[in-house]
Amino acid sequence: MSVLCLPGLIDPHVHVRDLGQAHKEDWDSATAAALAGGITTVLAMPNTQPPIVDAAALTAYEQAAQARARCDYGLYLGAGPGNVGGLAALAPRAAGLKLYLDATFGDLKMDTLDLLAAHCAAWPADAPLLAHAEGNNLAAAILAAHLAGRAIHIVHVSRRDEIELIRAAKARGFAVTCEVCPHHLFLTLAGSGLPAGYVEVRPRLAAAADAAALWANLDVIDCFATDHAPHTRAEKEGPNPPPGYPGLETALALWLTAVHQGRLTLEDIIARMHTGPRRLFNLPEQPDTWIEVDPEQEWTPRGAGLFSRAGWTPFEGWPLRGRVTGVTLRGQRVYDGQAVLAPPGAGRNVRSRP
Ligand code: NCD
Ligand code: ZN
Repeated sequence: MSVLCLPGLIDPHVHVRDLGQAHKEDWDSATAAALAGGITTVLAMPNTQPPIVDAAALTAYEQAAQARARCDYGLYLGAGPGNVGGLAALAPRAAGLKLYLDATFGDLKMDTLDLLAAHCAAWPADAPLLAHAEGNNLAAAILAAHLAGRAIHIVHVSRRDEIELIRAAKARGFAVTCEVCPHHLFLTLAGSGLPAGYVEVRPRLAAAADAAALWANLDVIDCFATDHAPHTRAEKEGPNPPPGYPGLETALALWLTAVHQGRLTLEDIIARMHTGPRRLFNLPEQPDTWIEVDPEQEWTPRGAGLFSRAGWTPFEGWPLRGRVTGVTLRGQRVYDGQAVLAPPGAGRNVRSRP
């Protein structure tokens, strides 16, 4: 077996759900899943219960992460109607500010152009600003950030018209970056085979032409992010299924499978899961940190065997090739290919001062 050593991967889009929705996932289970997937840093979204929209909630989630996270982490703040003036002071403690312009899980959707422009102006220009912005909202987000003289990062881009708009904006020198998720590259609405409820995700799965356009525009994709959004099987099978897929434990194997198929190179993966996110989110180096991968190992993900509390995966039974066999984080062996060895509390906040 020839083992590859890669840098610790960074996932800039993870839903952890500790405190109010820990039955779906908490810092312990989310970061165990991350390490098993070769990810040594997760940046966590604010659409939690309570939502991370003020100093009190930020402090509560910082404390939960400090107690339970097994890998390194950062926390995003969420923009809303009531906090335009209050967030800039919290920027040094945050991974970035997230703007929700489209409906999804949680209550953070912002409805007015006024609010979008106000947050773009108030959030510090040197701190990361992220937007969930589909269709026309994407054009609005890019222009609002540009007029405020600042950069913006577009999360989980899923469609042809969107990636083409981002390409055009980049070509004109707009400071826009973007991420794409495995499920929008590997699954389509017509072809996923996922039952109703399970198939729900935001942005929705799209057409084969959309996935093809994402593959064709890889050069404008700055990061691969999982958008790990765990919900339990009972919730997905219930009357009001929440949108979202778990993804931390399958992402790298999907990318490595694409390398075998000649659709991607290892350098493509490292650029989008390490170098790119590290630069975009101003993340510190993790010394003595690497992951070991057996690029030939064939395996099939099974929901029941995951560290995530979701207990299912949209890639159930897929024949994948390439698997994480070990992770070393800051000199400590934290995953051995079977068990997560890092204890809860071993992780560090990427925004804490040394
Ligand atoms: C996410 C969640 O469950 O928190 N769901 C999803 O379908 N992606 C929210 C989000 O990222 O939009
Ligand atoms: Zn998300």
